[in-house]
Amino acid sequence: MWKPFAKEYVENLKSEIDLKKIDYIIANHAEIDHSGALCDLMKEIPDTPIYCTANGVKSLKGQFHQDWDLHVVKTGDKLSIGNGKELIFIEATMLHWPDSMMCYLTGDNILFSNDAFGQHYASEFMFNDLVDQNELYVECMKYYANILTPFSAFVTKKINEVLSFNLPVDMICTSHGIIWRDDPAQIIKKYLQWADAYKENQITVVYDSMWENTRIMAEHIIQGIKDTDSTVTVKLYNIAHTDKNDAILEIFKSKGVLFGSSTINSGILSGMAGLIEEVRGLKFKGKKASSFGSYGWSGESVKMLNDLVSKAGFELTSEGIKVLWTPDDEGKKQCIEFGRKFAADVK
Ligand code: FEO
Repeated sequence: MWKPFAKEYVENLKSEIDLKKIDYIIANHAEIDHSGALCDLMKEIPDTPIYCTANGVKSLKGQFHQDWDLHVVKTGDKLSIGNGKELIFIEATMLHWPDSMMCYLTGDNILFSNDAFGQHYASEFMFNDLVDQNELYVECMKYYANILTPFSAFVTKKINEVLSFNLPVDMICTSHGIIWRDDPAQIIKKYLQWADAYKENQITVVYDSMWENTRIMAEHIIQGIKDTDSTVTVKLYNIAHTDKNDAILEIFKSKGVLFGSSTINSGILSGMAGLIEEVRGLKFKGKKASSFGSYGWSGESVKMLNDLVSKAGFELTSEGIKVLWTPDDEGKKQCIEFGRKFAADVK
């Protein structure tokens, strides 16, 4: 439970069960959205053993500085929980923190997958078959794009490892998001696709503009893209008015991305700087990019953008395009031509 709701969590738990009847606590992950209520719970039942990975010990001790009864488990370790049922632990290092772990409940065939296969999404309906399917799909992909992309190699490896155990999975209970009970394998298949340098037939144009001149460039660049390829999906975002997580989802889906910014103080606008810093950390693979922007006198933004996106792992298709002041007819023509060439380069 996330820390601000710790008290409500413990009260709700008390209304479900006598806390003294809790024999074990499984800490699949100690990031504070999962472990934020642990201190409040442990105040009630301080001697209850907590099962976690070796890195979980570091994380729990490092964050809470408590002398709890911590038990380290590794992949394959089992814990009998009565009625013939066992929890089987599966370390999931770097999915997405060093301490991450999943566990599997025999008998009920439930995989408690922790962050994996989850979403930043809540529904009173709780189960995957009861929620809006399109909304769920978008939330799953947005979660993957923003959280798991840099760990894609681990995703593929871990899924294949778990599949090799040949355990029947009737349900996947994530730590946040809906519960997968209808064809839970569907999200596993999607993760294998998303982990493999995923892209669709899409180009995303994302920009930040001081006085609308870079916006005018973006719109003419898109005209050029559509001239060359009428089938490609093109999405346009002003990052100053767009949630970065949404923009990153669209970048994740794209085969090509154009980054735009006016020049300000010999650099780029802060909205674009923030987006590129997030994109850098996500280590996207197999995507092409270039840059554009307007300027009034010095015009450093385009080169700076190209340097940044190149360092972020994008393959540059050109040196980008810059236009002095407001694009005139000639400037607009150059933008259209730039868009045509970019569409051809990413086709
Ligand atoms: Fe890694 Fe849901 O926190």
